[in-house]
Amino acid sequence: MTKYQEITAKLMQQPANWVVTGVAGFIGSNLLETLLKLNQKVVGLDNFSTGHHHNLEQVKALVTPAQWQNFRLIEGDIRNLEHCQAACAGADYILHEAALGSVPRSLEDPILTNANNISGFLNMLVAARDAGVKRFVYAASSSTYGDHPGLPKVEDLIGKPLSPYAVTKYVNELYADVFARSYGFKCIGLRYFNIFGQRQDPEGAYAAVIPKWISSMIKNEPVYINGDGETSRDFCYIDNTVQINLLAAVAEHPDAANQVYNVAVGERTSLNQLYEMIRERLAGQFPHLQKASPIHRDFRAGDVRHSLADISKAQTLLGYEPSHTIAQGLTTAMDWYVNDLTME
Ligand SMILES: NC(=O)c1ccc[n+]([C@@H]2O[C@H](COP(=O)([O-])OP(=O)(O)OC[C@H]3O[C@@H](n4cnc5c(N)ncnc54)[C@H](O)[C@@H]3O)[C@@H](O)[C@H]2O)c1
Repeated sequence: MTKYQEITAKLMQQPANWVVTGVAGFIGSNLLETLLKLNQKVVGLDNFSTGHHHNLEQVKALVTPAQWQNFRLIEGDIRNLEHCQAACAGADYILHEAALGSVPRSLEDPILTNANNISGFLNMLVAARDAGVKRFVYAASSSTYGDHPGLPKVEDLIGKPLSPYAVTKYVNELYADVFARSYGFKCIGLRYFNIFGQRQDPEGAYAAVIPKWISSMIKNEPVYINGDGETSRDFCYIDNTVQINLLAAVAEHPDAANQVYNVAVGERTSLNQLYEMIRERLAGQFPHLQKASPIHRDFRAGDVRHSLADISKAQTLLGYEPSHTIAQGLTTAMDWYVNDLTME
């Protein structure tokens, strides 16, 4: 039995009260789905700035009516302390996902990113501390490694942030650490590498690479690679991410809390390889892709060249065991994207 199987079995026996911020977004809605399937009670907080009602509708369709009754949505904003307090009242565990993602967005509007990702984060910390929650698990980011050249990335060795977004995610870690030291508050930061899977938004200027490319390929639109395509990432399927959030929330190892952990697979994939992996999975169903190739353009400001995680800390202290490689995750996610994008 894996640690994850052990803790999910325990949760089924003893339902707890959870808060998921950013619940209408990609990662938040996947956390919601799993928690409801485990018969947990969930309060979701979202302002729908980048999240969607249709994500919640999809979750509703995947759980039983009784499980859906365990969900309460607060349409509110983490920049408003009262909304955070309303969400945190009576909670055992917080999974804080709400933030404005995207390096380019933060370069265009650093003030907006700062307000959501730093002021909003601080509001959630204060509200969670005052509500006496058992643990506060939050979405940190691999962007915190910044210009540090070391590979694979280990949690203790970080460089200088390369974008306003990266600054905000690093400040989150600093605040969480200070709350742990000053108030005995129990936090865990999860440095997500490139997460992908069902319900990740393929639309908009700030869409992540995997859903954007899948959408473009299906619609026979050009696919752009920024730079020579040898830029690499440690792409991580959403089920791995859900797993580590739950492990982090309930981890009992004495050294587990007040730490940050890499969330990835420990596998490096270049953008050129990624293009091929997606193309070959779609080419059977979409014959125009049999001879398709990407268009290379300039490197993008603020992007790190290579990203690869050492995941041994999460394996040791949390019992994290990624269930999906990138290849397995892409195969699973592809069905969802094809259904979703061809239903329109
Ligand atoms: N997806 C990734 O690869 C990745 C990588 C590193 C870090 N992260 C972090 O993970 C978290 C979730 O990312 P995601 O990919 O699910 O993004 P997403 O945009 O799909 O979800 C974010 C959600 O937060 C909500 N939100 C934003 N600002 C808010 C505010 N002020 N008040 C209330 N709700 C607000 C949005 O409406 C959205 O539903 C974010 O903190 C992001 O920075 C994601």
